[in-house]
Amino acid sequence: MASAQQIQDLQATFEKATLGSTNTVSSSPNESFLLKQMQKKDATVKQLKPFSTEDIKILLLENVNQTAIDIFNEQGYQVEFHKSSLPEEELIEKISKVHAIGIRSKTKLSEKILKHATNLQVIGCFCIGTNQVDLEYAASKGIAVFNSPFSNSRSVAELVIAEIISLARQLGDRSIELHTGTWNKVSAKCWEVRGKTLGIVGYGHIGSQLSVLAEALGMKVLYYDVQMIMALGNSKQVPTLTELLNRADFITLHVPETAETKNLLSTPQFAAMKTGAYVINASRGTVIDIPALIAAMKSGKIAGSALDVYPQEPAKNGAGLFSNELNPWISELVSLRNVILTPHIGGSTEEAQSAIGVEVGTALSKYINEGASVGAVNFPEVALRALDLEKANNSVRVLYIHQNVPGVLKIVNNILGNYNIDKQFTDSQGEIAYLIADISGVDHADIKSLYDQLNDTQYKISIRLLY
Ligand SMILES: NC(=O)c1ccc[n+]([C@@H]2O[C@H](COP(=O)([O-])OP(=O)(O)OC[C@H]3O[C@@H](n4cnc5c(N)ncnc54)[C@H](O)[C@@H]3O)[C@@H](O)[C@H]2O)c1
Repeated sequence: MASAQQIQDLQATFEKATLGSTNTVSSSPNESFLLKQMQKKDATVKQLKPFSTEDIKILLLENVNQTAIDIFNEQGYQVEFHKSSLPEEELIEKISKVHAIGIRSKTKLSEKILKHATNLQVIGCFCIGTNQVDLEYAASKGIAVFNSPFSNSRSVAELVIAEIISLARQLGDRSIELHTGTWNKVSAKCWEVRGKTLGIVGYGHIGSQLSVLAEALGMKVLYYDVQMIMALGNSKQVPTLTELLNRADFITLHVPETAETKNLLSTPQFAAMKTGAYVINASRGTVIDIPALIAAMKSGKIAGSALDVYPQEPAKNGAGLFSNELNPWISELVSLRNVILTPHIGGSTEEAQSAIGVEVGTALSKYINEGASVGAVNFPEVALRALDLEKANNSVRVLYIHQNVPGVLKIVNNILGNYNIDKQFTDSQGEIAYLIADISGVDHADIKSLYDQLNDTQYKISIRLLY
């Protein structure tokens, strides 16, 4: 293990070597950090770590969850936290200085902004969507982008359970009536959900959770998915959407937004449902033909529906925004009975926010510390198992992002071939490729020259060395 003095000397050399560059060189953790890690983690593997954690700067905007801040603080990174997004000029000024940025949906990271992000290695979207980031441009600069697509699955599934019961008991209407002074104690067309059939379209993360919860309420569960998926509990996959529509009392949608799922439920599908069926959509707004749903509800075919998502949604909270200007059928929709409308809150719970903080926070620190890009949305997904502590003293992990053109690996391996290549993994996505290699037998004094040789290669986008 390098002494504290050696580490300091190397840091000074590397800082000089990389000044003004988009690339960074990282070295071993200091001894006290390593000891701490060894005490609490697997003592047989080397905990990789950038050379000086206090040099890793991370900018967190839009009130990113405390769980993420805790993860970064524990790593010793310098964290700058802001409750809101930043004006463009301030963002440009700050992004030029940081290695990582954490945002939610309001901060737009366009090419114009990212051009200034000369030290940025990684972007964390602490949310589901990544439309706010120019993913292709980020990849071309060697910047990996992570998000958290599944941390809120349980929250959505629970909302749907609440909606199934609320629709069956007309809770929305009773509540509005009483808020406006009307006492209307009725039992006609109000049902228990026990014994009823739930039809789930899309049996992925949310659909399958929902299946388990619905069975616990005594419901029978059928599902339709384009993939063959093993049933949980006593649920059953049906071969066609039509069969599901024919048999279910409640139909709920949990599919992605694709060309195939646009208007998945429209006039013919409503016609195929049982009279008095209920329809729920907490997936994406384009999946239901809403004018056709309005018509099916007016005709009495559909007894109730719950919508959480819409083809057009307001960009911010506020009164008067959910109006015909947004979608021309809104006044008709809001006037219907037994329709529950929620503002895209399926995944909006404290638990989901905290899980998102942990998932994205962990992904970012694994990328910074180990180079692991598994789960990145714009980037080849690459990871290597940890370095063996026994060999770790003279091992270096090379993280080499490059243009995906022929001949690059030959050149790189020619350089790495001077050492023992313990393991390496490479993958490409579009025009970007990413190589991780662990090499051993490296004298610390050689590291700068290794860095310089890799840095001089023609198709390199960025390099980091961890050791
Ligand atoms: N309302 C909210 O706040 C909220 C929160 C999270 C997710 N969502 C949305 O919920 C939806 C489902 O999310 P998930 O995490 O369960 O996704 P997932 O990827 O885990 O599952 C989607 C499933 O749909 C299936 N599928 C795809 N096309 C299909 C088709 N044409 N017919 C039938 N099945 C099809 C897939 O095979 C997959 O099993 C997504 O649209 C997501 O954006 C909404």
